[in-house]
Amino acid sequence: MVAAMADSDSGGVSRRGFLIQSGTGSAASLLGAASLPAVRSSAQAAPAPAAAPITEIGPGPVPVQLQVNGKTVAARIEPRDTLAHVLREQLGLSGTKIGCDRGACGACTVWVDGIPTPACMTLALDVAGTAGKGGRAARPVTTIEGLSTAQGTLHPVQDAFVAHDALQCGFCTPGMVMSCAALYERKRSQGQLAALSEGEVREAIAGNLCRCGTYPHVVRAMLSTAKGTGNGKNGGSR
Ligand code: FES
Ligand code: FES
Repeated sequence: MVAAMADSDSGGVSRRGFLIQSGTGSAASLLGAASLPAVRSSAQAAPAPAAAPITEIGPGPVPVQLQVNGKTVAARIEPRDTLAHVLREQLGLSGTKIGCDRGACGACTVWVDGIPTPACMTLALDVAGTAGKGGRAARPVTTIEGLSTAQGTLHPVQDAFVAHDALQCGFCTPGMVMSCAALYERKRSQGQLAALSEGEVREAIAGNLCRCGTYPHVVRAMLSTAKGTGNGKNGGSR
């Protein structure tokens, strides 16, 4: 082991090689000399994985593309910027609220790849598209502003929230609607919308805090719109 460390210092043995030798040495002393060849061949059979190329980004702003509400937009973001911050401060999409800024209240909920996601806990860079070698496509983000149609028709869940008075101060409402609408769309794509249960609604909004206590109205709105009795003009269909 001492010899191996000496080789490592001189560059002859890699850190991984040293650890493998140390491991096989310990294993060999436990298994006995008769087992040594098998242990060695097993260690030798595991090739070191090729190191992935590392691309450094930042610390200053870098140009990226974001795909928000079906549109590709250019932005300059720092690696530390959260998606919530970029949506509000750079793109002017202030419907996404920041309450706790630490993943506890759900006010900042948006969809990333169609999945409800706390935007305050998501680095904008993680959803951004980058150009050039090793670049990648931006991941689709949907905010409350993108939930209604281009013609201004509300999503059935938005409509039901209005019809059932499922908001008071409204601060939690965009995040609450995004969580509910994701559940609505998932059940609809499964052909299970009419079977939506109160438990499923409660589970979907478990991460959305409402200090005004509108939960009973939110549940009622969801159940009624799922059964096609949302009482709003778009209830149950779109
Ligand atoms: S602001 Fe993101 S979870 Fe509270
Ligand atoms: S409506 Fe006020 S926090 Fe929910």
